[in-house]
Amino acid sequence: MCDRGSPPDAGLPARAASALAGLASHEREIFTLRLERSRADLLEPLDRLYGDRRDYPAFVDDLIGVLAEGWAARPADLRRLDLRRDLEPDWFLRQTMVGYVFYVDRFAGTISEVAGHIDYLDELGVTYVHFMPCLKPRPGDSDGGYSVMDYRAVDPRLGTIDDLADTAAALRARGISLCIDLVLNHTAKEHAWARKAFAGDPAYQAYYRMFDDRTLPDRYEATLDEVFPAHAPGNFTWYPAMKKWVWTTFNEHQWDLDWTNPRVFLEIVDVMLFLANRGVEVFRLDAVAFLWKRIGTRCQNEPEVHDILQALRAASRVAASAVIHLEEAIVSPRDLVPYLGAGRHAGREGNLAYHNSLMVQFWSSLASRDTRLMAHVLRSHFPGHFRNATWATYLRCHDDVGWAITDEDAATLGLSGHAHRSFLAAFYEGVFPGSFARGALFQSNPLTGDKRSSGTTASFCGLESAMLDDDAAGIETAIHRILMGHALIAAFGGLPLLYMGDEIGLLNDHAYLSDPDKAHDSRWMHRPPMDWRKAERRTVPGTIEARLHGGIAEIVQRRKATPHLHGENPTEILDAAVDGVFAFRRVSPLGPLVAVFNFADAWRRVPWSFVEAHGAGDFVDRLTGERVVPEAGMLMLPPYARVWLT
Ligand code: GLC
Repeated sequence: MCDRGSPPDAGLPARAASALAGLASHEREIFTLRLERSRADLLEPLDRLYGDRRDYPAFVDDLIGVLAEGWAARPADLRRLDLRRDLEPDWFLRQTMVGYVFYVDRFAGTISEVAGHIDYLDELGVTYVHFMPCLKPRPGDSDGGYSVMDYRAVDPRLGTIDDLADTAAALRARGISLCIDLVLNHTAKEHAWARKAFAGDPAYQAYYRMFDDRTLPDRYEATLDEVFPAHAPGNFTWYPAMKKWVWTTFNEHQWDLDWTNPRVFLEIVDVMLFLANRGVEVFRLDAVAFLWKRIGTRCQNEPEVHDILQALRAASRVAASAVIHLEEAIVSPRDLVPYLGAGRHAGREGNLAYHNSLMVQFWSSLASRDTRLMAHVLRSHFPGHFRNATWATYLRCHDDVGWAITDEDAATLGLSGHAHRSFLAAFYEGVFPGSFARGALFQSNPLTGDKRSSGTTASFCGLESAMLDDDAAGIETAIHRILMGHALIAAFGGLPLLYMGDEIGLLNDHAYLSDPDKAHDSRWMHRPPMDWRKAERRTVPGTIEARLHGGIAEIVQRRKATPHLHGENPTEILDAAVDGVFAFRRVSPLGPLVAVFNFADAWRRVPWSFVEAHGAGDFVDRLTGERVVPEAGMLMLPPYARVWLT
């Protein structure tokens, strides 16, 4: 309690003081203590971003006001969650955390109907769900919901904002945290801010990147990439009625926000707290690499991006401290690491970031049966440990797989980067001779030769081709590939995200081709609706569904029972020096855990001395609970084997 004579909010700006006025004194004190805790984390980056502006002091007062208003409006149960998370700051790093990602309509129909599937989630051991974009999108093509026209409403086809709050509470009551997307780089051109800008309001035109002529766009364009070269070439769009070029990195209907304008920062913080107060615990901050633009660069991963992200993180910690941030930056390894906090941002930026490289390397090794590139990339570009942060590990998500393998890394292994990337695109399209995978190309770029891939985990792993051929052995092998992948992401270090349908082996879905809003975008191939009839077969022993669902649920349970896998325990990539074998070690106070995976389609033998070098001679495989003994001095690994030895 506050007993030091002066009121807890002495010294707060007027707007903040008035927001807090109605609260009990201990609630006001909690706010001021949290503000003090995060003041430097919040203001140091904002000083750098906006400190030169004349209106900066007023902006800071407004910001503290917005934070205080957010806290004042925070429901009692969420304030209690905040306290709990203050006391358990490692909650998202724990090995007990497992995520599941889905489109609400494709999984359940509506947001309210998700509650009816909590038992299903529980059965898989899920403690975190990501509702794919569920805020109100523009009508028609909305880039899968990433073209948002109202951040304070949910997609009316899915329900209402109250449904979101009720469902978040129902999930929370069962120990499941809700993640939703917050799109930071752009709004739909139908968003109220964009409409006012379009109508000529200069205050709102300053929310976006607009240009009267081509001078600046041409200078920027000289060094920019194209994200969707096939269906949305270029990065700027001309609007004759407004007589302006608008920066549109992604699609024409997605207008890039101008983060040099501190009003944009304020608006987003306000929206974030509005949603946090509806029970969102994790914000997936979309396409963050693109937030800051600088002439002469690719306008990705600029240093200011990390200032913005640190300040947003600090804002959550002040007004909704239960909340964490997952940063989506699908960028090269060197650029990716800073999203989990590097240098002055260490421990102060994203709590989670997608491990895009691990995902790409998994598919690369699976196709080539060669793990040397994977080991090289993961060893040389990534630290084994972060402060207050960890990876989101995954095999597939709603997006394509971009073959982000650099020429330099490929050259280290004597490979041509271009040839290897082309091989992977052909392999996962299913056209490379002998490929077991089925999929499609996404956004082939004839200028750069860049090709990306679409397809589900099961189809990429060979289940689709084996089922078509009625090939029982092929089906068996595909199941092992899928389970090996899940054992990898569950142990690597980070919060594993299961992608809806992978647990029952959903195959590529071609229905999108007959929907005019989707036909141009092959990513819909791997966004199939949940097949609940197929899911029911998980209870029929021996079916593909039972093998996969049971296998994945088992991996999840084993992960939860293996404290070595806590996110704070570093990951070290090992050199097993056996063709097709990938190994790493988790260093934990309980002793090491050595995880070994066989990416080859034949037996592999790893010298027992390699295993022994990482601990005493007596090993248990945490995945099966069984003792592992050498055979003629070798650890014997069948095709696609996975073991977690302690
Ligand atoms: C992210 C999303 C992707 C979307 C893009 C633009 O990369 O994952 O689906 O197209 O942002 O919002």
